[in-house]
Amino acid sequence: MCGIVGGVGPSILAAEVFEGLKRLEYRGYDSAGLALIGTGGVEVIRTACGRHSLDDLKGRIDELTPGASLVIGHTRWATHGAPTLENAHPHTDCTGRVVLVHNGIVDNFRELRAEVVSHGHELKSATDSEVIAHLIEEELAAGMEPAAALGSVFSRLSGHMALVAAFAQFPGSIFGIRRTSPLLVAEGDGRSFFASDAPAILDVATSFYEMPEERVIAIGKLANGAAGVSTLTPLAIDWASQDVELVGHQSFYEMELSQEAGAFLDTVSSLIDEGGGAVVDELKVDPYELKRLRKVTVVGCGTSYHAGLVGRFLIEHFAKVPVEVDVASEYRYRDPILDDDALVVGVSQSGESLDTITAVKGAAAAGARTLAVTNVIGSQLSRLSDTVLYTRAGPEVSVASTKTHLSQIGALALFAIYLGELKGHIYPEEAREARNSLRKVAAAIEVALERKRGYEEKLAPFVGTDRFFFIGRNLQYPVALEGALKLKELSYLAAEAYPAGELKHGPIAMLDSEAVVVALVPRDRLREKVLANIEEVRARGARVIVVAFDGDDEAATLAEAALFVPEVRPIWSPLVTVVPLQVMAGAVARSRGLNLDRPRNLAKTVTVE
Ligand code: G6P
Repeated sequence: MCGIVGGVGPSILAAEVFEGLKRLEYRGYDSAGLALIGTGGVEVIRTACGRHSLDDLKGRIDELTPGASLVIGHTRWATHGAPTLENAHPHTDCTGRVVLVHNGIVDNFRELRAEVVSHGHELKSATDSEVIAHLIEEELAAGMEPAAALGSVFSRLSGHMALVAAFAQFPGSIFGIRRTSPLLVAEGDGRSFFASDAPAILDVATSFYEMPEERVIAIGKLANGAAGVSTLTPLAIDWASQDVELVGHQSFYEMELSQEAGAFLDTVSSLIDEGGGAVVDELKVDPYELKRLRKVTVVGCGTSYHAGLVGRFLIEHFAKVPVEVDVASEYRYRDPILDDDALVVGVSQSGESLDTITAVKGAAAAGARTLAVTNVIGSQLSRLSDTVLYTRAGPEVSVASTKTHLSQIGALALFAIYLGELKGHIYPEEAREARNSLRKVAAAIEVALERKRGYEEKLAPFVGTDRFFFIGRNLQYPVALEGALKLKELSYLAAEAYPAGELKHGPIAMLDSEAVVVALVPRDRLREKVLANIEEVRARGARVIVVAFDGDDEAATLAEAALFVPEVRPIWSPLVTVVPLQVMAGAVARSRGLNLDRPRNLAKTVTVE
């Protein structure tokens, strides 16, 4: 999705803002640009070379006059208009004195475009964003100050978006405003910044602030009609710039995969006290309200949705509360039956996925209590929810999530245990024991990760296959979904996931000797059933890979390859069985010569519908 970085201050360099854009590259983009206000006015460079746009832009920074004190930059993920040079941001008005970058969609852009065209403006692009520059131009011509002009135009725009603008007559201030879409403010070394997320500016900023909604904020010099940084709420972001540097690995995907046992342990440790009790001050919901909960709904997208599916089993197991899980983009258009006995849990790594945000907002409006499980402090989801459980996975750069997935499951597990304890379904002693056993799973995850090379060797005969099926039952079905999603995201292959028992109701027709079936068969109460399903698959000639607990020779004899993971309690099994599948997705993608960190067509944080 589009990324925004803007900096203002005595020694701001285009190269620094460029580095910020580089750190937003992971969000996905297809063109890029930079603008500054120098002594001669607004200068803009833009490029549309697909995924190489930033490399191209870097080579062109010298075209900008050095010594400016204001630079704004943008990476664009095309929505309105193809990823061409004309459509790349920053955009300017007819006078060339207003310059802006935009993330999100202007829903009513057609009528606004027709309006500015009818007023004689010449539009150079097909974007909704450029229209905003021309509308601001009109307000300025009518005598408005920049902040008032931006606020007035913004109030006419419908949709979710963040806007950052600069004006030639104000070379000391950058103006920002947003609705739902991410944007934060930061300061460091006498300079001030706007950025779509904190990782973009970790090396230049030391203090971070929440950006309010619907309010024009000016950074740099104070400006009439705009609030300054001193009015903003600080954000306690403790990530370091080295957390987003690629060290010792070929890709962020592989680096973050290698960190997942630590991320999981940090997350669960932050939610368990020394005596094995729950750290409840994280959960700022009245225990009495939780106690009378009669329904939990979990919503999320992609990998986070899959963590929610695991969460369903955990909450029903420990707390005996009925749970439904839905894809956020579906849930938001349902008519769910909710009241204040219902809790809606939004699971989102970024806390910025628009589908999840709007689903949780809708649930709150319908009277439900809301809980966010997110990795990003101060994210939109964390702010709009009644309470938050933070995962402590550190920044995740790879589009395909790994370490945050396990951390989300860890947080949901601890919530489930706490709820079970509150509701009297488990004794405090049992709850303590369950928490401690969960914490110990980190060691099993680490052992599975240490086997990465071994998994890759066993998978080598399969990497040329282009048809994969993942099967599992109960807790392993979400793992199957996650294995298939990882493969789709990184390798672009047809990968299907089915509950193992459902295979015979249709999908088995697709099996032949060209198909590979990955069966998840940990030692749990459904193991025998899955073994029988594997026999059905073998009878159709398909090749079989099993993911099984150490020592399960019986499962191994049914397969061409067995990926063993250390045995853990069945209830925690999704935390370890997913590891070989994460390794598999990386190995298959790499064997196909694909860049693991730049999956085709995908964005890390999807801030549009
Ligand atoms: C995008 C990414 C997925 C991710 C999903 C949810 O679609 O490509 O990999 O799982 O967003 O992201 P979130 O930040 O809400 O967890």
